[in-house]
Amino acid sequence: MKPIYIIEHLEPEIGTWCMCEYERISQLVGKENLWFTNISQPTKELETLGKVLNTSVKDLKLQNACVLDPEAPTLLTPENIKPYQYIIIGGILGDYPPKKRTTKELTQFIPNAKAYNIGKKQFSTDNAVYVVDRIVKGTPFTTIKTKYKISIKVDDIASIDLPYCYPLDATGQPLMSPKLVNYLKTKEGF
Ligand SMILES: C[S@@+](CC[C@H](N)C(=O)[O-])C[C@H]1O[C@@H](n2cnc3c(N)ncnc32)[C@H](O)[C@@H]1O
Repeated sequence: MKPIYIIEHLEPEIGTWCMCEYERISQLVGKENLWFTNISQPTKELETLGKVLNTSVKDLKLQNACVLDPEAPTLLTPENIKPYQYIIIGGILGDYPPKKRTTKELTQFIPNAKAYNIGKKQFSTDNAVYVVDRIVKGTPFTTIKTKYKISIKVDDIASIDLPYCYPLDATGQPLMSPKLVNYLKTKEGF
């Protein structure tokens, strides 16, 4: 049975960056396998991507749940993921250096859910789901090709540095929402 991916939204609002990631997650795992929790102001757009709950996952008291946290000591594997029906991931934007927000704002409040890492480096929420989904489907983390720190060219002069870990596609290109790339290239102030 396919697990349910639960994104516990922990940003003050659902901005464009979050929405680009949430849309890609829905494309990756399907809206029937995706819940967004801790959503104080549901939107029609979010409701097209998955089930939307006002309640925090911390209050759902789920059995058979695990949480993904870069600070967790145990690596997620195709074997240890098998018993879980729910996989909880932080709806937290990347920060550098990492502030350990997943542990402080999520993991410590759901003691029933065992925590796992997918390496020590920080993936975006959508790429964390991509990597976990590959592991669920039987691919060990160590065989997933990644690149740490990428740069997006905005024009002939400027580029944006993203100090996070990116899974690579078959041609060696970092995986990222095309909408997000477009947003980053056109947004003023970077
Ligand atoms: C952009 S990360 C936020 C990380 C945050 N800066 C921190 O230090 O906790 C978004 C979410 O993806 C998941 N994630 C990203 N990288 C991970 C890793 N290496 N191991 C486990 N989970 C990870 C976590 O659930 C995390 O809350």
